Amino acid sequence: MLKYLTAGESHGPQITAIVQGIPAGLPLGKEFIDRELARRQGGYGRGGRMKIERDQVVINAGVRAGEALGSPIALIIANRDWVNWQRVMFSGPEADISSPLVRPRPGHADLAGGLKYNHHDLRNVLERASARETAARVAVGAVCKQLLSAFNIQALSWVVEIGSVKTQRRQLPTEELFRQAESSPVRCPDPEASKQMMALIDKANETGDTLGGVFEVIVVNPPVGLGSFEQWDSKLDGRLAQGLMSIQAIKGVEVGVGFRGSRMFGSQVHDAIAYSEGKRRFYRLGNHAGGIEGGITNGENIVLRAAMKPIPTLRRPLSSVDITTKEEVEASYERSDICAVPAAAVIGEAVVAYEIARSMCEKFGGDSLEEMRRNYAAYLKQISEY
Ligand SMILES: Cc1cc2nc3c(=O)[nH]c(=O)nc-3n(C[C@H](O)[C@H](O)[C@H](O)COP(=O)(O)O)c2cc1C
Repeated sequence: MLKYLTAGESHGPQITAIVQGIPAGLPLGKEFIDRELARRQGGYGRGGRMKIERDQVVINAGVRAGEALGSPIALIIANRDWVNWQRVMFSGPEADISSPLVRPRPGHADLAGGLKYNHHDLRNVLERASARETAARVAVGAVCKQLLSAFNIQALSWVVEIGSVKTQRRQLPTEELFRQAESSPVRCPDPEASKQMMALIDKANETGDTLGGVFEVIVVNPPVGLGSFEQWDSKLDGRLAQGLMSIQAIKGVEVGVGFRGSRMFGSQVHDAIAYSEGKRRFYRLGNHAGGIEGGITNGENIVLRAAMKPIPTLRRPLSSVDITTKEEVEASYERSDICAVPAAAVIGEAVVAYEIARSMCEKFGGDSLEEMRRNYAAYLKQISEY
């Protein structure tokens, strides 16, 4: 079964991921992973750190001659900033721990993490709680996207809100919206809203403030029957929500119409079932359900939305308490993003790609891509005869 683990501190030497369960024979390219990593680094409103890093993956296990071997895949992303932090972050006892971080930042894991792990230097908390870890998740997601693309499935995203600025919904094909989002500095497929979002980010920057927002992830062409109603932890909507919610600063997840649906009548929300001969067969007259009913895909595109809170590190810090002296102080400030919703959307694609790939492996899994393709084709045949 597909699973992964990540390790690495934000200013340590590297971020590492180990992915288990990718079928042998899957073509895997470093170039695609690097492009995905670059997408995560972009977006108007990012801070100084992203100017230092030029993320590149090193694949140093589980792949040979451009194909997965079926053994664990090790992905490594070096932290360029490590050179500036070696003395502080060194793993040996000679590390420089003379300037502990003692002014916890509201909105971060700093204080609760310090209390929980009994750390008196909050750097020991923030180094791992930092969203730098998501570089590993994007690399894993890129591997999963390569698996999904063998079955013509894609995970795409765009930004729909930043602060108070909302996108006007336009009836355009998903691929066209994605293309427009990719050419927008805020990854928003609405040129007018993009400009307003950038102006708002400039305003937040001027006042030492930060912004959050909302992004959407769409899974295009999922087969019917991924996930299950059989058990709480096999429900695909639950798994996708956990994946998205686990991204740093994500505070809300919606499937389909989500919260909006709770304010509507049932007759307005549920998607009537229709049938036509040919390739499509059973389909829905709408997609308010966002492609999932009862924890299983219903064959429509999966539509997910996630809300990101404003970045918690503020240049004009909130008040905090020094954990040593217990005196009121300003929270510490570390070079920081003003808005990272465009990057979070790319991370959203990655975590969603992983969950879809995981459920694909559960349903059609084999040791090799060939075996998985055979299982998939046999299932599609079964569906076509239903
Ligand atoms: C792509 C991305 C970039 C982020 N950049 C920053 C940042 O520069 N400064 C910051 O304080 N928080 C940043 N965050 C948010 C924090 O990592 C997050 O709020 C913090 O770890 C606390 O976790 P929680 O918000 O999930 O409770 C970023 C989050 C993401 C997804």
